[in-house]
Amino acid sequence: MSISFSEDQEHAQITTAAVLPEDSTEGSLRPRTIQEYIGQEKAKDNLQVFINAAKMRKEPLDHVLLHGPPGLGKTTLAGVIAHEMNVNMRITSGPAIEKPGDLVALLTNLSEGDILFVDEIHRLNRAYEEILYPAMEDFAIDIIIGKGPSANAIHLDLPRFTLIGATTRSGQLTAPLRDRFGVTLRLELYTPEELQQIVERTAEILHVDIEPDGSYEIASRSRGTPRIANRLLKRVRDYAQVRADGVITKAVADAALVSLEVDRCGLDALDRRMMRSIMEYYGGGPVGLDTLAATINEDAVTLEDVYEPYLLQNGFLTRTPRGRCVTRKAYEHLGMLFPGNEQLEF
Ligand code: ADE
Repeated sequence: MSISFSEDQEHAQITTAAVLPEDSTEGSLRPRTIQEYIGQEKAKDNLQVFINAAKMRKEPLDHVLLHGPPGLGKTTLAGVIAHEMNVNMRITSGPAIEKPGDLVALLTNLSEGDILFVDEIHRLNRAYEEILYPAMEDFAIDIIIGKGPSANAIHLDLPRFTLIGATTRSGQLTAPLRDRFGVTLRLELYTPEELQQIVERTAEILHVDIEPDGSYEIASRSRGTPRIANRLLKRVRDYAQVRADGVITKAVADAALVSLEVDRCGLDALDRRMMRSIMEYYGGGPVGLDTLAATINEDAVTLEDVYEPYLLQNGFLTRTPRGRCVTRKAYEHLGMLFPGNEQLEF
């Protein structure tokens, strides 16, 4: 049986910040040290101080909350922290913790100084959060074994560990959990220059021949996101191999990205569909997120977490209390007439 995608769906995938099967080599491309980690200068600067101070005191690092849009390297940064602190890291995610016992097992298996990385921590069951409170604050948990009159409360001391939580939506964390993180770092979208360095680093690891103009072209069309930049690099490499002489020049990168429907600003079919719907059905906005999501048949959370940050940062979209509006730049980008600019005919 063959499953066919509409063009939009097929091409919308390549610029998604969500993890795709083809990102399975991401691990081997990850930087290990702070020096190797490109960009996020503010977060790195702060971290370097906290790491050095914790090491001088011979204490584990305070609990860290990393937040920001997907694909910016939260897991990578957690790995860098573990490497710099010289400790092991256990990785889990909010939705993977299905029962309280899962969390208790993870916590009791940690060694002194270890890092427990919880991705998508905003999706952790609220009822299990309460296990984390004393674990984070006092490095201890109280568990009840058995039921009814024979139930026994046991107090378990835990090794001193560091919890690193990652989330795309820090607003969804409960205040008590948020307050227990000593360090909160916000990851920002990367500049094209930073992404260019990342593309060149990856190209070197993958033995891909790339010219500086070629890496810049890929970087400037990757929505500020390393995961997308590395994915586009691999697709452009294929194109260069089959349709050119294997070298990624600016022209090769451009031709490959045009064929993938990634435009010169890095927008894909879904971005354009989203902006065009606001223009055509809602007079440019404002329109509520849920209404917009229903109009284009997409998930509201995906629009908000994955698509909006880049459109907002690049001035294609604005957020008002009454909903989303497209900007003059969006009209110009799509070659549409900005309302109010029409010539009146008499
Ligand atoms: N690969 C993915 N993200 C990276 C980063 N921030 N620095 C270096 N290489 C990366």
